[in-house]
Amino acid sequence: YGDSDFVVVANRLPVDRDPAEESQGWRTSPGGLVTAVAPVMKSQEGAWIGWTGVPDVDFDPFTIDGMHLVPVTLTSEDVLRYYEGFSNATLWPLYHDVIVPPEFHRTWWDSYVQVNERFAAKVAEVAAEGATVWVHDYQLQLVPQLVRRMRPDLAIGFFNHIPFPPFELFAQLPWRDEILRGLLGADLVGFQRPADAANFRRAVRGRLNFTTKGSTVAVPAGDVLSAHTVRAEAFPISIDTPYLEELARDPKIIERARQIREEVGNPKVVMLGVDRMDYTKGIRHRLKAFGELLSEGKLDIEDIVLIQIATPSRERLEQYKIIRHDVELAVGRINGEQAEVGSIAVHYLHHSYPRDEMTAFFLASDVMLVTALRDGMNLVAKEYVACRGSDDGALVLSEFTGAADQLTGAVMVNPHDIGNLKAGILDAVQMDEKTRARRMKQMRKKVSTDTVSIWSKKFLAELEAIHTNPEAII
Ligand code: G6P
Repeated sequence: YGDSDFVVVANRLPVDRDPAEESQGWRTSPGGLVTAVAPVMKSQEGAWIGWTGVPDVDFDPFTIDGMHLVPVTLTSEDVLRYYEGFSNATLWPLYHDVIVPPEFHRTWWDSYVQVNERFAAKVAEVAAEGATVWVHDYQLQLVPQLVRRMRPDLAIGFFNHIPFPPFELFAQLPWRDEILRGLLGADLVGFQRPADAANFRRAVRGRLNFTTKGSTVAVPAGDVLSAHTVRAEAFPISIDTPYLEELARDPKIIERARQIREEVGNPKVVMLGVDRMDYTKGIRHRLKAFGELLSEGKLDIEDIVLIQIATPSRERLEQYKIIRHDVELAVGRINGEQAEVGSIAVHYLHHSYPRDEMTAFFLASDVMLVTALRDGMNLVAKEYVACRGSDDGALVLSEFTGAADQLTGAVMVNPHDIGNLKAGILDAVQMDEKTRARRMKQMRKKVSTDTVSIWSKKFLAELEAIHTNPEAII
């Protein structure tokens, strides 16, 4: 893999090892990044540099589903400090509006620097002369600068899948200037929403005193980096819509959806939540609203069930143990108070499911609840819409997701406001068929014209244009 023209770099490879599986097989990695970038990779014949999810084991490069995968090894200590520590207990909460307090530890930062250096060295080794390198997400924000130093011939793009915080929050980070310089090693820095790009440019002006004009940042000579211009702007990510539409038409999956409805007792309304078990997703808020609607008699246990799928995530971290505990307490309370023998209010599933089964869940549900307190995009909302080929179904969507910019036909809610959330859920449940169909049709049009392949083409075309002619930009 020493001469790849296209190199994707992300903390995780698109597949990881299932530790529970005896066969030691590979399975699809969790989360929105992999969902979005894997289809791009399959069509591009490049190399993907990332971690296998297994600490302390060196893997040789391998090919799976037409993707060339180049593993980077993380030691158990890297996992503790770089991955669980700096990435997921410092940056993740800081970038998601400080929903829980971020922790700042110098040993974690040191490990973040070291691991970013390891990824950058791998890029320098794998990329062909003049290749395009696309670095993804908050775990690898130093990689663009490190790569530019070693390989000035490369076109370097960076895309941040999660929000970029307001300057006042970002400014708490002891290593804020290093992070900004790390990102400015790219030719193009992409964000989910225009507000994220604006937050970044404001941080660059505020901390580094570099000038910006529109979406362009002028990086002066000296200062570790050589003089160049960087474009920082929004590229809202999407999904592989044609693939999902096809799955949603598969008779086997349609039959499975019918079965799921039957298994939950064929109620009038099936509601669905699908999230990683994460405190950013607003699962507790959703349960609170649902529980109150039942206990006040505004929803009837005879008519409605909620299926809540919460995929296990980052389970060794304290805040993830807390959110799991709180969610399970809330589910138990609602079922204890509201359910009857043979009719459960909340079907809570703490597993991950294969794509076909997920599609069946989307098809089986009349109302989808996406109530994140903060979310870069939320691809689940777009996936639900893509599956509703019959134009039925309603989406309740938090205004604090990137998806809210595009899915304007959803019932918008502020999940912090339980009253508003309850009203939104009732609205979605009681919406007449004609209104539902009109709103779903409008959203479906949006996700079918706005696919992940268009997203990546736009990003890569702009990267190419900036790299070949940087002067034309300013
Ligand atoms: C989000 C992030 C990804 C991350 C995924 C799963 O989608 O944007 O970078 O890979 O969550 O989280 P994990 O920590 O399991 O990789």
